[in-house]
Amino acid sequence: MRATSLFLTSRTTPREVVMKTDILFSPFTIKNHSFRNRIGVAPMTRMSAGADSIPRHDVLDFLIRRAERGAALVYTEAIVTDYESGQGYPGQARLTNQAQIDAWFAVVQAIHAHGAKAIMQMFHCGRMAWPEVNPAHRAIAPSAVSPSQNNPLTGFPYPRPEEMSHFDIDHVIQGFVETARGAVAAGFDGVEIHGAHGYLISQFLSSYSNKRHDEYGGSVENRFSFAREIIRAVRRVVPGDRLLLFRVSNWGVADREVSLFASQQEWQAMIALLDREELDALSLSTYRFSDLAFASGQNMAQLTRAVTSLPLLICGQIHDRATAEAALKNADLILSGKSLLLNPNWVEGVRDGKVMPLYSSDEANIAYTEEPLP
Ligand SMILES: Cc1cc2nc3c(=O)[nH]c(=O)nc-3n(C[C@H](O)[C@H](O)[C@H](O)COP(=O)(O)O)c2cc1C
Repeated sequence: MRATSLFLTSRTTPREVVMKTDILFSPFTIKNHSFRNRIGVAPMTRMSAGADSIPRHDVLDFLIRRAERGAALVYTEAIVTDYESGQGYPGQARLTNQAQIDAWFAVVQAIHAHGAKAIMQMFHCGRMAWPEVNPAHRAIAPSAVSPSQNNPLTGFPYPRPEEMSHFDIDHVIQGFVETARGAVAAGFDGVEIHGAHGYLISQFLSSYSNKRHDEYGGSVENRFSFAREIIRAVRRVVPGDRLLLFRVSNWGVADREVSLFASQQEWQAMIALLDREELDALSLSTYRFSDLAFASGQNMAQLTRAVTSLPLLICGQIHDRATAEAALKNADLILSGKSLLLNPNWVEGVRDGKVMPLYSSDEANIAYTEEPLP
């Protein structure tokens, strides 16, 4: 019988078959969840929620439309994990009451109806918080050290945060647990703990912001304790058939030029600690996926892959087919932020190998206007 595959000839070796398969548009499975291709919408804060902490209708609709136009997974914006001190931007969403659960339930159903998976990302801003938009008017952090850059939204320095007590730590962990429970009730396929970008968990992980002398500071192991406690507490409320992911980065949105981890060894030690936890995947956020890191001659995905076999999502200036394929060499799924924000036909463009621009952060500021996105 003749081979039916378009690519298979009598002289094709198995390796050639793999190379000629369109990996970007091949499915990928994590546990019981099958992604129809390797492309996802990165988490993007939109600052649109009113007093009910539910994003504006068109902002929710945007997520559904990206599922409709071919993305395999869709992240929510970063959802704030408490009503006290976690919020860093006006108009952020929460997911701890029935009205919020109902609103997201409808969005998740619609994303599913279009064949995609939905993942809720949650975070606490820590020292990046904006006290004026937090009911308790507090900013808390592992240590009383502020970012050196001004808050770009206010133009003023970030307030000096209070060093978190053990009571604060337990309280914040409960916020992550409550929000994860909200996501499970809303039907999300997965929950992501945002441990990247210089927000609270990342502040604990990095010696740049963590100057503590107790069991939460000092060695990489100690600095990881807070993340570990959150992961374990959240895993208890995220059933085994839902995914638990963790986002990591070596950069933060303030003091952007700072390498949050001092060395390749520190980075890999932290990844190895994550690898021991009951996580289903890691999401690696980079400024540009191909940049070499720590003078190692390797990029962040290669350094990460060397110490974990967890499925890896990668993000950072992936803007066309060539960059998506290059990024997938060291990862399993790619995420796009700005390209999927600004171009509703991006997945199709990638499929067709179209020339597509690399959008700037200024162009992405449209995310924060009331003008509905295409
Ligand atoms: C408008 C906007 C909002 C963002 N909000 C979040 C967020 O809530 N959580 C997060 O982890 N990253 C956030 N990011 C970062 C993106 O997820 C992504 O890592 C970044 O845009 C780089 O990917 P890109 O080069 O494809 O845009 C945001 C990015 C943009 C442009």
